[in-house]
Amino acid sequence: MYSKCGDLEAAREVFDRLELKDLVSWNTIIMAYAICGFGSYCFGLFSDMVNEGHEPNGSTFVSLLSACSIAGLLDDGWEFFNSMKRDYGVDPGIEHYGCMLDLLGRAGNLERAKCLIEEMPLEPTSRIWGSLLSASRHHRDITMAALAADRIFSLDSDNTGCYVLLADMYAEVGRWEDVQRVRNLMKKQGLKMTSSCSLVEHNGRTHNFKNHDKSHGESYAVYEVLDILSRMIGEDNLHSSGVSKLKPAVSLKARGNSPVFHSVRLATCFGLIKIARGETVLIRKNVRLCEDCHSTMKRISLVTKREIVVGDSKVFHHFKDGRCSCGDYW
Ligand SMILES: *[C@@H]1O[C@H](CO)[C@@H](O)[C@H](O)[C@H]1NC(C)=O
Ligand SMILES: [Zn+2]
Ligand SMILES: [Zn+2]
Repeated sequence: MYSKCGDLEAAREVFDRLELKDLVSWNTIIMAYAICGFGSYCFGLFSDMVNEGHEPNGSTFVSLLSACSIAGLLDDGWEFFNSMKRDYGVDPGIEHYGCMLDLLGRAGNLERAKCLIEEMPLEPTSRIWGSLLSASRHHRDITMAALAADRIFSLDSDNTGCYVLLADMYAEVGRWEDVQRVRNLMKKQGLKMTSSCSLVEHNGRTHNFKNHDKSHGESYAVYEVLDILSRMIGEDNLHSSGVSKLKPAVSLKARGNSPVFHSVRLATCFGLIKIARGETVLIRKNVRLCEDCHSTMKRISLVTKREIVVGDSKVFHHFKDGRCSCGDYW
């Protein structure tokens, strides 16, 4: 019907104009609000839906639990998780467990998350372990991360993202032998690092940017804007040796992986130049947004007073007024 988030208002308009709202349209609109982080709004829609006599099904609960997960509402999450079977006769499936794991992970409750996986009546998939892996990354628990990665490798040995994430975590704490070990594992599987890229659309054309990309026809303007924005948000170390001023993961940056010219920033600058004020700048990215870019994007939305939406491999980040809809967890 309408695409996943990005343009929430348009989705809402279409939904409101629907003469007959069926289960699919309810599920979709709840999911649209969920992925943008409007948790309590989803709960309101859910009561409306039930009051209008619709029986929610498994998909409805995926939307609701995703809403809880994205907005970090742990108690509400348990409430829905327990109620789905009890009140609506819907058995929790693997996706519902996935949402609960995201929620527990976000709350930093890694042990509880691990227990939930072990208690599951279903066979855990690599997506399930992946949820524990991202939580471990977020809370910098490398022991739990290694455990989760190990399970993922045994199920899904060519999961590039998982190798990269684990290697990054080891690099952050300077465990270079472990970095090498993971890289070798990757090589043994015949895998290469995926290079990150960001897409932005303008006038029906898609513009593609890679990290440190200078190949775009309008690169000059893009870098100019990036330079101006960097100064505005106090990242004035662009041309100097200021790399050391940047926080964690210094080791990675020192190895020529500075986030300052990451693809998402280049695509954002291009979007800010081309897309009319008042319209959302919508960017798609093939890999997870890094923490540095996430915090920069928030500040860019604040200083430019523009709305920027970045869909990464996992969620949509809706940046506005210096904040992100994901609540800084993704
Ligand atoms: C829920 O119902 C909708 C509409 O009938 C259907 O498209 C969807 O596949 C259902 N989901 C599940 C998990 O049964
Ligand atoms: Zn980045
Ligand atoms: Zn975010």
